Amino acid sequence: MNNIMLNKNTYWIGKVDDRDVPFHRLTLTKGTTYNSYLLMTEKPTVIDTVDISFGKEYVENLKNIIDLDMIQYIVINHTEPDHSGALRALAMKAKNATIVCTKVAVDELKEMYKLHDREFLVVRNGDSLDIGGKTLKFIETPYLHTEETMITYCEDDKILFPCDIFSTHIANYEYFNDLSKEDITDDFVGYYKLIMHPHRRYVQNMIDKIKDLDIEMIAPSHGFILRDNVQKFIDIYDNMSKNSTANKKALILYSTMSGRTKKMATIINEKFNEQNIISEIIDVNRTPKEDILNRISESDAIFFGSSTKYGDMIGNMEDILKNLKSLNLSSKIGAAFGSYGWSGEAIEVIQDYLNETNMNVLTTSNCVKGTGMTDIEFPIKVRFEPDDNRIKSIEKSITYATDLLLSSI
Ligand code: FEO
Repeated sequence: MNNIMLNKNTYWIGKVDDRDVPFHRLTLTKGTTYNSYLLMTEKPTVIDTVDISFGKEYVENLKNIIDLDMIQYIVINHTEPDHSGALRALAMKAKNATIVCTKVAVDELKEMYKLHDREFLVVRNGDSLDIGGKTLKFIETPYLHTEETMITYCEDDKILFPCDIFSTHIANYEYFNDLSKEDITDDFVGYYKLIMHPHRRYVQNMIDKIKDLDIEMIAPSHGFILRDNVQKFIDIYDNMSKNSTANKKALILYSTMSGRTKKMATIINEKFNEQNIISEIIDVNRTPKEDILNRISESDAIFFGSSTKYGDMIGNMEDILKNLKSLNLSSKIGAAFGSYGWSGEAIEVIQDYLNETNMNVLTTSNCVKGTGMTDIEFPIKVRFEPDDNRIKSIEKSITYATDLLLSSI
């Protein structure tokens, strides 16, 4: 391990895990690596650690390179335990080290590793840190792929340390992409699709933030260090995260009792239109059923909303829903919404109808499983009138639906 160097004073100090690794409900049959780095400057700095299973081994190995009391900073770009897992073991030995991370990460790390009494340095987007002979710059990259994530960039060495971003899951002992015996592009793209594409809106933000950096090497925290044709890998992320150019249509159907469900329909419609989705809103009690069914067939996303009265839907909504099973809706997104006063049964019944079709029916559960985001809500239910907070919440859910619609892959 001591011989793997990115340059004359930057060490790879990670762990190759060549087992079948369980990961996000998959098994990584090619294994993976947990890449950690030591920048041997006047203020020696560790960037990310390794999986918790290898914490003791990691610290023992690191002792062969450096007296752990000399370590001044431990940068944690991302708190998931495959990278922060050895933090407690390291911090216990590297007693003089300050832990560097984003504001969101501090509480997570304190709770995860019982580091409440430890010194933290909170960094924000654009902050710099002098580590004695080199300067690190920090770039916040929220939701790539969790909220607290950031990238560290070493200005002097022109190395980007982006943790999960630009990674591949391959256990390898070549370490650098130019030494790989095989083309890693398919594995790199596969990783992007699994981990990053659900957050592609944030991928575009990240690309914008790094576009003016002079990057000669990307040292991610899984798989190969990229030092050959670096721009090709940045371009893959850029191109795959761009919106589809196809015009997408949304249809918002509602049946309202007091105007509150109509208000929700209007918010949904406006948010779609604001994001360049061609959206229209229809009161199902004022439009012939055949027209509505034709419009459903022509749309890419269909939202069905009803007020709840006496525990059920109102107006013509159920008559529309009964016809859905006879349509081929396989490439479409469906969702339920509505305002209610007591229990909101109508919204649940709409959801039941949608679940009997072959649409992609939006649910909170699927969103959590696909993106890890916990603040997206489907079906969208509002008790009485949507206030400002609920309006923001509805808009966030529509932004998520828009990203699904505009995905180019
Ligand atoms: Fe590689 Fe999000 O952990």
